[in-house]
Amino acid sequence: MGAISIAPPILLAPMEDVTNAAFRLLVKRIAGPGLMFTEFVSARAIEHGSKRSLNKIRIHPGERPLGVQIFGDEPGVMAETARICEEMGADLVDINMGCWVPKVCKTGSGAALLKDPDTAEAIVREVVRAVRVPVTVKVRAGWTHSQFAAPELAKRFEGVGAKMITLHARFAKQGFEGEADWKLIEELRKAVSIPLVGNGDIRESEDALRMFEITGCDGVMVGRAAISNPWALRRIIEGVQGLPQSQEPSIRERAGVALEHLRALIELYESEEYGTQRKDSAELRAVRNLRGQIQLYIKGIPGAAAMRQSLMKMTSYREIEDALLGLSAGDPLVSESA
Ligand SMILES: Cc1cc2nc3c(=O)[nH]c(=O)nc-3n(C[C@H](O)[C@H](O)[C@H](O)COP(=O)(O)O)c2cc1C
Repeated sequence: MGAISIAPPILLAPMEDVTNAAFRLLVKRIAGPGLMFTEFVSARAIEHGSKRSLNKIRIHPGERPLGVQIFGDEPGVMAETARICEEMGADLVDINMGCWVPKVCKTGSGAALLKDPDTAEAIVREVVRAVRVPVTVKVRAGWTHSQFAAPELAKRFEGVGAKMITLHARFAKQGFEGEADWKLIEELRKAVSIPLVGNGDIRESEDALRMFEITGCDGVMVGRAAISNPWALRRIIEGVQGLPQSQEPSIRERAGVALEHLRALIELYESEEYGTQRKDSAELRAVRNLRGQIQLYIKGIPGAAAMRQSLMKMTSYREIEDALLGLSAGDPLVSESA
């Protein structure tokens, strides 16, 4: 796509409160996906100069290519925001038409746009006009099962200059229920000739290979499987590239990376201007935000389940470090199924 080549064709999904720069840099080092995305940011908030939102689209050395994902319902505001993202160095601008949560949809943004094709097309057209970088769109299949809107919409987006479509193969009303229906990706493949990325329920390399085979998609996007588990993403990439699968990380490595992640998030918050005006310290905010994900890093390690409740009450880096070092003292290897 223009100056960007997505190699390997495995993408890290945009995920709110997960794919911040601290996590992206870890994932880049450990797994090396072909493209990563910021969590979604509100176009209105960026246009109003919200420091919190501007921080989310800051690009850090070593994480390119990076897509910035924006959501909104107003073509002019989306276009202006896309210009700001480009100015801040985004390699591409992705438009969110997949978020199903009421707080987003009730404003007419996210997946609500699947019910309003004219506004959806106007947004893509205006954003494409506003920037030189590629513009891509991430959609769900439609609002409800009775309406598979993605093919018609994707054609219209291609017509006004979108350079890639990602389909999370569920309907908006489903949330995360049921299984992703990869047949929908296969159907969409027939509708457009721009690159198509398939998304939904990829957990291991066999899934990714099967999705490529069944759907004819050009890339696959991985979300939940990578949360607190960059090694899972690494194994998916290795499998797709035909490389031998690397070993499972040791307990020590999992604990070490969890702590590295927490330190990086504290530093990130410290470096953000708005942090200085907040009453909670960067450390406290980072610990609060990451406690749940730290728990996932150590899932299955003997003793981790018992630690769960105390971990969720911890408020400092030191407490978490002591707990994790205690867990990893023996350093045996742990299997994925443990
Ligand atoms: C915690 C979380 C946050 C998410 N935030 C976003 C987001 O900001 N933008 C977006 O397009 N999708 C978001 N998603 C959806 C994912 O990008 C992806 O489409 C979905 O999780 C399906 O892929 P998976 O089965 O590999 O997880 C989010 C998903 C999760 C679990």
